[in-house]
Amino acid sequence: MFDFVVPYLARYIHIASAITLLGGMFFALIAWLPALQKAGGAGEQSISDAIAARFRPWFLLAMLGLLLSGFYNYYRHVQLKDVPPLYHMVFGMKFLLALHVFAVGFLALKGGNAKRGRQITGVVISGLVIIGLSGWMRVLHLSFLIHAAH
Ligand code: HEM
Repeated sequence: MFDFVVPYLARYIHIASAITLLGGMFFALIAWLPALQKAGGAGEQSISDAIAARFRPWFLLAMLGLLLSGFYNYYRHVQLKDVPPLYHMVFGMKFLLALHVFAVGFLALKGGNAKRGRQITGVVISGLVIIGLSGWMRVLHLSFLIHAAH
């Protein structure tokens, strides 16, 4: 029972946090920032800062969720030895990109930031690459298990 519930919760937290963090940043890139820029006017920066301040606690919560559930997932695979060596290399690339997403995303949501648009573009690009690497890790893991069973 415990063997099922904890990995299940970790997976749920990981996916929900990834959706919150990356979805929020994607929404900013395609809707929030371009719409504000189009509207123009003197209040543009302060409205943008107010939206960023609202999203910031959710960004931090999602970051914590990704780190805790991600390290748990990784530790579990390492302990069970159920992944091939390439898995660890892909994980290394993913982790470096995740650090980029966390650091630049954190800076982008700070008040009075004139470079917000460019920083959020970088975060979304890295985030999309991370999704690709995560899928690769999953396929590596599953095919390793299938081969081990035969
Ligand atoms: C922006 C940050 C991140 C995003 C968008 C992200 C996204 C994802 C997604 C979509 C999956 C596949 C979930 C599934 O099929 O169960 C996944 C799996 C995983 N993630 Fe992340 N993740 C992020 C950060 C992290 C971090 C910081 C760690 C480690 C500390 C981590 C470790 C893992 C591990 C070990 C898996 C399991 C892969 C497998 O199926 O073998 N992730 N991640």
